[in-house]
Amino acid sequence: MASRSQLLCLQLAFFLLSLNATTGLISRSQLSPDFYSECCPQALPTIKRVVEAAIYKQRRVGAFLLRMHFHDCFVNGCDASVLLDPTPTIDSEKNAFTNQNSLGGFDVVDNIKLEVDKACGSPVVSCADILAVAARDSVVALGGPTWKVQLGRRDSTTANRTLADIDIPAPFLDLPALIENFKKQGLNEKDLVALSGGHTLGFARCVAFRNRIYNGTDINPAFAKKLQTTCPESGGDFNLAPLDPTEARFDTAYFTNLVKQKGLLSSDQALFSGGSTDVLVKKYGLNAKAFSKAFAKSMVKMGNIKPLTGNQGEIRLQCSKVNYS
Ligand code: HEM
Ligand SMILES: *[C@@H]1O[C@H](CO)[C@@H](O)[C@H](O)[C@H]1NC(C)=O
Ligand SMILES: *[C@@H]1O[C@H](CO)[C@@H](O)[C@H](O)[C@H]1NC(C)=O
Repeated sequence: MASRSQLLCLQLAFFLLSLNATTGLISRSQLSPDFYSECCPQALPTIKRVVEAAIYKQRRVGAFLLRMHFHDCFVNGCDASVLLDPTPTIDSEKNAFTNQNSLGGFDVVDNIKLEVDKACGSPVVSCADILAVAARDSVVALGGPTWKVQLGRRDSTTANRTLADIDIPAPFLDLPALIENFKKQGLNEKDLVALSGGHTLGFARCVAFRNRIYNGTDINPAFAKKLQTTCPESGGDFNLAPLDPTEARFDTAYFTNLVKQKGLLSSDQALFSGGSTDVLVKKYGLNAKAFSKAFAKSMVKMGNIKPLTGNQGEIRLQCSKVNYS
């Protein structure tokens, strides 16, 4: 039987859809920051509570959840496709080259879903919306800016590992390739630089930066040498190094570090390597306010990539599985 909140949320979804179709009023996206405020007012506080508790236990969860939303949005839009486990019909994005043995936080997402369903009934809050809100709450919990998260995304019934391998950017891309990669998602150079600032949080595995610390030419030599103790020329593939010196604090150290040629990934340093993005890197390093503002704006833009709305997709009962399959 459908719950009251389920019906109310559905009504809103179709109201927004018809508004869009008939008047073109909400033309850019059919998402709204108030999507759950009538039909499930407990949704956002509940997500925040679970995210904060999980980060309190392990700071890196914040990095996991931010990256998860990014890896969701870049593959066919923000539709929670990244959360689907492999089945005979689902070619799971969890097995994509960049995700395998790398993405974390799925347990936290499952826990959020459990708690949100307790508060609102099920299925009311989509897994795609959970990822968008959890990313924002993670950034806030670790000292970063806040923003209004657009809501009303629905969940996919498919996943595409091949597309994940194509569309999620690799750490060896140079600046033109990074710009092209983001452009494919409707994101510009400013979005690229601001969102790369997400690397103010978290870690990378040795495999992601080995080539740079042994063969790189645009790297601070002392920095490279120090990293070589963490990341040997062969073996230790999963050893971790922080993406910036303050890996559990959302700050501007990522950018000031790039100016010192201390970017961990080639793709990080590419943003400050004599190209068109140098000026933004310098600016965000010196001006925390400007970075915060740009990051928040670009996160909303990224969250708007190809959402499923209205009667598209479904609201999953369990984030790792398609309903009734
Ligand atoms: C610009 C192109 C990007 C490239 C090439 C890239 C690549 C990578 C790589 C290789 C790692 C390390 C993964 C591992 O070794 O396990 C990583 C980690 C991370 N990325 Fe990105 N990334 C990019 C953009 C972004 C964006 C836009 C965000 C979010 C706004 C983001 C958030 C993160 C976070 C938070 C981590 C740390 C995760 C952890 O601690 O496990 N990245 N990224
Ligand atoms: C996955 O994406 C690839 C690359 O765009 C495409 O060729 C393929 O048809 C897609 N597969 C599915 C099942 O949609
Ligand atoms: C450094 O570059 C050489 C030549 O391209 C390559 O053979 C070697 O594997 C690289 N070393 C590392 C640690 O990536």
